[in-house]
Amino acid sequence: MKMQLNEQARAILRGNDRGGYTIPTAGLYPYQWNWDSAFAAWGFSTFDINRAWTEIETLFKAQWANGMAPHIAFWQPDPGYFPGPDVWGTATSDPQTSGISQPPVAAILARKIWDADPEAGRPRIGALYPKLVAWHRWWHRDRCASGVAAITHPWESGRDNCPDWDPGMKNVDGTNVGDYTRRDTGHVDASMRPSKTDYDRYLAILQFGKACGWDQAEITANGPFLMADPAMTFILIRAHRDLAAIGRALGEDVSEIEGWAAALAAGLPKIWNSDLGCYDARDLRTGQFANIMGSGAFLAWLAGEVDPAVEARLTAVWDRVAYGIPSADPAADSFNPRRYWRGPMWPVVNSLIAMGLIEAGKSDLAERLRRETAEVIEKGGFNEYFDPLDGTPCGGANFTWTAAIWLTWAGRDADGGT
Ligand code: SER
Repeated sequence: MKMQLNEQARAILRGNDRGGYTIPTAGLYPYQWNWDSAFAAWGFSTFDINRAWTEIETLFKAQWANGMAPHIAFWQPDPGYFPGPDVWGTATSDPQTSGISQPPVAAILARKIWDADPEAGRPRIGALYPKLVAWHRWWHRDRCASGVAAITHPWESGRDNCPDWDPGMKNVDGTNVGDYTRRDTGHVDASMRPSKTDYDRYLAILQFGKACGWDQAEITANGPFLMADPAMTFILIRAHRDLAAIGRALGEDVSEIEGWAAALAAGLPKIWNSDLGCYDARDLRTGQFANIMGSGAFLAWLAGEVDPAVEARLTAVWDRVAYGIPSADPAADSFNPRRYWRGPMWPVVNSLIAMGLIEAGKSDLAERLRRETAEVIEKGGFNEYFDPLDGTPCGGANFTWTAAIWLTWAGRDADGGT
């Protein structure tokens, strides 16, 4: 069965390959998405190291002059997705892109890909390194002024409709965005997707960015939405450290990168919610916390920022479900086990949390997470995400990043064998 699933996972990566970049899944997401692509590269590295590097190289061909690696690169027209390039209206043309970024997992995974074949990777990572540094510098300059990492749009977090963003979203006026037709609900059931009110507000935030020509200072100072994201903060701390390790191995001076990581770690008290006893999302316009234990709190493990008291609270949330880590606490009123990021478990997030668990020596927890993730894939296939209560596969099928984490982590035994 395992061999068959390995074969299927490789076939999904090959099938979603559009020539130098991989779409997340046909229909629902027909372009190159930033963090999906980094996971795709990690997946490819288990059987085609050259193709793995090409994936990240293609992603950085879409990089903006200010250093930002955009969240979508629209390499080929596709009317099946909304909002497409014309709605975003960015100045970039080759390719056209969205106007925001996405979690910077590329350095974390590029380091793993380099480790998999140091000789083949040396010229590839050498050429990518300055581009990664420019992107991380953009994060530091344009998103981390509060001390921790902020997002200017829920889509930037990659966790679009998670309850973390509810305090910021309720202050976004989505009533004047005009008529539009969603495409996502033509591909998957509307009950698994963000609501119409969410989409109205997503568009209002997008339209603000477009109207100011994607001026980063204007967006962060006066945009309709600005929230501190614990998930982004932990991912970025970890990514800075991995990028510094890459730089050191290349013989570069990495003191600037080390400074960014140290500054973020020092900023963590800003997102410590003492009522919750966890790191939490926070509206930077009002100071209000989201009061949610979900992916953001759990990703503290990826950055090595979990003490025993926090661990006890996090595992209590995990114990409320049967499979993997819920993206939001099942005990919260906002919990919905199938609606995208309002509760479902995401294998790809589990894989990031497991990295931290393994490095912290928490091998029992890491193995539990791997087993629970493997089980839903074995039973339900390579879906986008899963119901954490009964394991029902949800969202898009034949999903690139689920196939990738099967090959790199979930489908591997505790001894690392396949
Ligand atoms: N995840 C978004 C969507 O559903 C965009 O990044 O379209």
